[in-house]
Amino acid sequence: MERMRTVVRGVGHNLPSQVVTNFDLSKFMDTSDDWIVERTGIRERRFVEPGTTTTDLALPAIQMACSRAGVTPQDCDMIIGATLSPDFFFPGIGTVLQNKLGMAHVPALDVRAQCSGLIYGLATADAYIRAGFAKRILLVCSEVQSPILERTNRGRDMAVLFGDGAGALIVEAQACAGGEAPSAKNNVRGVIDSIMGSDGSGAQLLFLKAPGSVVPGFMTQAAIDAGDIHPKMDGRVVFKNAVTRMVEAASNLLERNGISPSELDLVLPHQANLRINEAVREKLGVSEDRVFNNIQKYGNTTAATIPICMSEATEQGKLKEGQLVMTLAFGAGFTWGCNLIRW
Ligand code: COA
Repeated sequence: MERMRTVVRGVGHNLPSQVVTNFDLSKFMDTSDDWIVERTGIRERRFVEPGTTTTDLALPAIQMACSRAGVTPQDCDMIIGATLSPDFFFPGIGTVLQNKLGMAHVPALDVRAQCSGLIYGLATADAYIRAGFAKRILLVCSEVQSPILERTNRGRDMAVLFGDGAGALIVEAQACAGGEAPSAKNNVRGVIDSIMGSDGSGAQLLFLKAPGSVVPGFMTQAAIDAGDIHPKMDGRVVFKNAVTRMVEAASNLLERNGISPSELDLVLPHQANLRINEAVREKLGVSEDRVFNNIQKYGNTTAATIPICMSEATEQGKLKEGQLVMTLAFGAGFTWGCNLIRW
């Protein structure tokens, strides 16, 4: 069998038009623009209008990715969804999108890796493509999180952090000419390497409890009253773990590919907190101009942050074909990881 590589052919994104500023949130809870900006870097985020689902939000992102790749969803032979906020408790968004997009009866699966959704999704797509199981995969990362945020004082630590958004990638199998796979040392385009990790001892340090099988009947009035229908987090522990794990994963990825941080053209980190990204950047020794951040405008859109960054960086001319690019994320689970890509 011919050796295959995974090339990102097109990226798209979509954000709701409704802008919610820090000042807007301060009308519902004791918070301030100063507190939020100083702690997180976030100035505003986008919330969907009531009734917009996660797959609704994803459709324009998919359309943009397809048009940039010069393909249609029907040209894809697999769909991978990544979200923590699916349209339904089950099934996942993969199958819902398969139907909405009028795709053939292709395999559809969801990865549940929360903020690491793009990393896990791309690594999974790469593995399927290299194994010869798929030729062109639609990878969709979409989140509608605003309805589950508790916009009161009790929920203010979480409510100020998150927003809604969607991103999509078309990734395609291309033959490795002469059997040469993408590497940090050549100019062959494609996914070079990925690292994924997890630590379930942190599962309840960043999670949404209900609906879930730990709750009798998956949902009770007591769970609603206790606020278990809203995400909860131990912010300080998550912060420390995020920095440690992202630095560790990125260092391992760079070392095993024989490159130094200065050889990276662009780092696309998950957007959870500007201070986390700044700490990771400093520890890795990457210069400021090589890290792309947009959390200021959108907050944390969980699985969608990195594809939105990819799409915006492309539009701004910062992400270009041939560059050596690293993605990097940490999220609920805990999960973390990074991809190294010759763009
Ligand atoms: N506005 C104003 N005050 C707030 C607040 C808000 N939105 N949320 C919490 N506070 C208060 C707290 O109640 C606390 O008050 P106290 O000192 O009287 O008890 C104080 O601010 C400090 O809270 P603390 O949680 O210690 O702040 P922090 O400096 O750790 O920052 C986070 C909080 C959430 C910004 C930070 O911990 C963080 O970013 N963690 C990681 C988040 C993350 O990455 N999550 C997703 C991972 S994918």
